[in-house]
Amino acid sequence: MRQQKLRAAIRAADLDGLIVTHLPNLFYLTNFLGTAGVAVVMPERVFLIVDFRYNAAVRSLAASDYGSPDTEIILVDRSYDETLVAHVRTLQAPRLGVEGSNLSISRFDHLRKSLGAAATLTPTEGLVEKLRIVKDPHEIEMLRRGALLLSAVALDVLHDAKPGLSEQELAAKVDWRIKSAGFERCSFETIVASGTNAAHPHAHAGERLLRAGDLVVLDFGGVYGGYCVDLTRTVALGQPDAEQQRVYDAVLEAQDAAIAAVKPGARAGDIDRAAREALGGHKLAEAFGHSTGHGLGVEIHESPRIGPRREATADAPAPPDDAIEPGMVFTIEPGAYVPDWGGVRIEDDVLVTPDGVEVLTNVPRALLIN
Ligand code: GLY
Ligand code: MN
Ligand code: MN
Repeated sequence: MRQQKLRAAIRAADLDGLIVTHLPNLFYLTNFLGTAGVAVVMPERVFLIVDFRYNAAVRSLAASDYGSPDTEIILVDRSYDETLVAHVRTLQAPRLGVEGSNLSISRFDHLRKSLGAAATLTPTEGLVEKLRIVKDPHEIEMLRRGALLLSAVALDVLHDAKPGLSEQELAAKVDWRIKSAGFERCSFETIVASGTNAAHPHAHAGERLLRAGDLVVLDFGGVYGGYCVDLTRTVALGQPDAEQQRVYDAVLEAQDAAIAAVKPGARAGDIDRAAREALGGHKLAEAFGHSTGHGLGVEIHESPRIGPRREATADAPAPPDDAIEPGMVFTIEPGAYVPDWGGVRIEDDVLVTPDGVEVLTNVPRALLIN
């Protein structure tokens, strides 16, 4: 099904086939999970090129429900690119797309020279990524299960945040809990940002010791069945002061407003504006410097981007403001970051349903006081 949709996109781009080199796309199309591999998707066949390390894995994949009778497994002989070139030469002068955002210029040049007249290579943008934006039932099931599992992890993790621990120690506990719960791995480097460090949205966990009076931002995620989930909560160590509670309540209000704006037919920019206006009402518009959310899937950051509508410039027309459709899964994660003071972020994962929104993560959102 995914391969059929891709074939329609390949035809619409006036190409005969696509060389897939971006590994998340390879996983999406073939369920092959490895650190190297190339696929050539043609109208009737898919060539999956892997090296001997993955021979057993792809043979069992081919025999599984995910195997597709038109997939031909090719083992690398000498190098990936020599094998790729040799097989493309058997395809009779096709017009092939390559993944422009993924292939290096030097590899593109090398492939083009090696193929000569045997094929023409054309850079394409996001042919597979566009298919990934709306999730199919299997993907929704993985994301739903992942989000529930991450919510269970969160309940433990949030109580681990105690004065005296360093950010790094707390991050290590988070990672241990994620893996022990059954996730394949963390979906990104866990963020533990305490006190003034929380003023940086993507702070790295460091040596700072947590102490009473801190707000601590914990942002973590796991990969379940190949799919990434992502959650953030902000915890107070000891009774929050009035300003901490005020900023927290403003971010919570922004998250509520953004979630309420999620429905089919809305625009990503509408959802982002709902969060931004809520924060603006508390004089915190300047403190919110990132997008409201991002798509989740086989990558932790993918389309749709839930951010401000991008206006046309002298050089470029306005990009389409993504229309929200049922089956999209993305985060809603407004925050407020105040230099030399600290920060607050609250992040949940949502699924767009035919008539609105389902919040997949399920963790209390009131400020937790440890
Ligand atoms: N930590 C990555 C994110 O929340 O987007
Ligand atoms: Mn996120
Ligand atoms: Mn996150």
